[in-house]
Amino acid sequence: MATVKYSAVAFAAGLGLSVGAALSFYLARKASRSAAPKIWGTQPHPGWEPPKKLPVPPAIENGKMVAIDPRVIGGKKCYPLIISAVVPRPVAFVSTVSKDGQQNLAPFSYFTAMHDPPCVVICVCRAGHRNGGKKDTMANIDETKEFTVSVLSEWFLEQANHTCGNYDEDVDEMALSGLTKEPSLKVKPPRVKESAVHMECKLKHKYETKGYNGEDTATIVVGEIVMFHVNESVAKKTPSGSTYVGLEELQPISRLGGNIYGRSRECFDLARPDRDWQKR
Ligand SMILES: Cc1cc2nc3c(=O)[nH]c(=O)nc-3n(C[C@H](O)[C@H](O)[C@H](O)COP(=O)(O)O)c2cc1C
Repeated sequence: MATVKYSAVAFAAGLGLSVGAALSFYLARKASRSAAPKIWGTQPHPGWEPPKKLPVPPAIENGKMVAIDPRVIGGKKCYPLIISAVVPRPVAFVSTVSKDGQQNLAPFSYFTAMHDPPCVVICVCRAGHRNGGKKDTMANIDETKEFTVSVLSEWFLEQANHTCGNYDEDVDEMALSGLTKEPSLKVKPPRVKESAVHMECKLKHKYETKGYNGEDTATIVVGEIVMFHVNESVAKKTPSGSTYVGLEELQPISRLGGNIYGRSRECFDLARPDRDWQKR
């Protein structure tokens, strides 16, 4: 009888604990949701109908276009122009390992992606501080053909920014910046645990670029994503059940010109035109 009573108490306590744990997990998630910044606004011109003209700011309307020929100014001088004009850019936080096991981490904003097969594209420029030699990231990708990309979010931005210094090749920037290594499943380079979305990549193509004087300037790297990792707190489902990433929860940081970063605030939906929009 005592045993039965004991088991009943233990069961009730266990049930209480698991209900309690579930409840606190739910409340914690709810709290973290409501702590997420409010980012939703309205589209710029809700009443617009084609082919009405929209007002252009007077300074733009009256400003003269200045033509800049890159061959006249030189390729290197295009740097401030291109990184301030092609904005905002996402930032790939790229982790690599040399063939001898030296780990490396650096941010790259010449970065885009595509799917089917899912691929990332990054452009690793030659290092000015190494007289045009390779950055550690590129040397490691050349050696091992593997890397990971972790997506940059606001909550670890200063640590991420700290990894971009011109450090020597024996510096482990992940350790230097106090970030945490998460082992990968299919490649050797670790992922950044603080990031909410990681991609394990294998080198698929690379293209070496040459400057106007024939010197090596950069490598455009196409990496095939062989594994995604998405933190459940940012993972959402489309109506058909595909996983996507919630913008509010991800708090992505983009790179603008110079040393300027941006948050994605005031986002809005704008439906694509229906090919039969005129009949509506
Ligand atoms: C936000 C940000 C974006 C960057 N984007 C690029 C880039 O697209 N290509 C590049 O070559 N360097 C880029 N850099 C500079 C590299 O991160 C930097 O040269 C770094 O030291 C390279 O490290 P590594 O030698 O360890 O590979 C960027 C730096 C920052 C802070």
